[in-house]
Amino acid sequence: MAARIIDGAAVAKKLRQKMAEQIAAQRLTPGLAVVLVGENPASQVYVRNKGRAAEEIGMKSWTHTLAAETTQAQLLDLIAKLNRDPAVHGILVQLPLPKQIDAQAVIAAIDPAKDVDGFHPINAGKLSLGLPAFVPCTPQGCMILIREAESNLSGLKALVLGRSNIVGKPVAQLLLQADCTVTIAHSRTKDLAEECRAADILVAAIGKPDFVKGGWIKPGAIVIDVGINRIDDPANPGKTRLIGDVDFAGASVKAGAITPVPGGVGPMTIACLLKNTLQAASGDMGHA
Ligand code: GUN
Repeated sequence: MAARIIDGAAVAKKLRQKMAEQIAAQRLTPGLAVVLVGENPASQVYVRNKGRAAEEIGMKSWTHTLAAETTQAQLLDLIAKLNRDPAVHGILVQLPLPKQIDAQAVIAAIDPAKDVDGFHPINAGKLSLGLPAFVPCTPQGCMILIREAESNLSGLKALVLGRSNIVGKPVAQLLLQADCTVTIAHSRTKDLAEECRAADILVAAIGKPDFVKGGWIKPGAIVIDVGINRIDDPANPGKTRLIGDVDFAGASVKAGAITPVPGGVGPMTIACLLKNTLQAASGDMGHA
C-alpha cells in the first residue's frame, strides 16, 4: 500500500499562523539576527528564507552579510554586539563557515539564551540531560512530523542515519526522550540495509541523494527524509532539482508514512527556528 505523505509544508504553515496570532495578541516584537559569511549559494537561499519567514509572522529580522575573507575576530565582534543588543532575541550564524573560522568557537560565543539554533554546548548538554533547552530546529521539526504519523512512539525502534551535531545526534536524543530504542548509524556502520529493515522509524540525514533504497524499508515504517540534495534533472537538461537521501519512489510503496523532498522537513526547520525565537523573546527557554 502507498505510504501516507506527511505534508511538512502544511504543518509548518499552521505552526507559523499560530505564532503570528500569538505575536499579535501579546504585542511582542521578537528579533532574529541572521549572520551569513561568504557566498555559499545554498546558504544565501536559506538565510533569505529565514529572514522572510520571520517578518511574515511579525518578527523583526536583521541579516548581517559578511565577506568570505572575514576573520574570526571580526565575526566574534559582531556576535558580542548582537549578544548585548536587547532588540535581538535570537542569533543564528549560518553554517558552514569559511575555513579560516572555527565554527565551534563562534557557536560558543553566542549567548546561550539567544542560541535559537540550539548548537551552543550549554544547550546541547542540557538536551542530553533532558533539561529545558533550545532544541535544534531540524530535529525538532522531525519529531513534530513523526508525531503527525504516530502519537505514541514508546518502544518503537528508531534508526538515525547520520551522526552530525546539527541533526543526527540531537534527533537521537529526542527519540530517546520519546522512549524509542535508538540506533545511530553512519558511514562505518556494517550492514546498513539490515539496520534499516529493523527500524519502525527511520530518520535519514546523511546528505547522499537517493541513498536509502525502497528494499531497506520495514513495511509500515515512518520515514523522515532530512536530505536536501541538488542534482541535475534528467527530465530537464540544464536544470537542477532537489531530492532527498531516500529513494522516494521505492520507499513510498513500503513505508506507512513518509516525508517528501521538498515540502517535508525543510519548511519545518524554518518554522522551528521561529518557534525558538518566539520562546527566546518570551523568556522561555523551551523544553527538551
Ligand atoms: N546549516 C545547515 N543547517 C543549519 C541550521 O539548522 N542552522 C545553521 N545555523 N546553519 C545550518
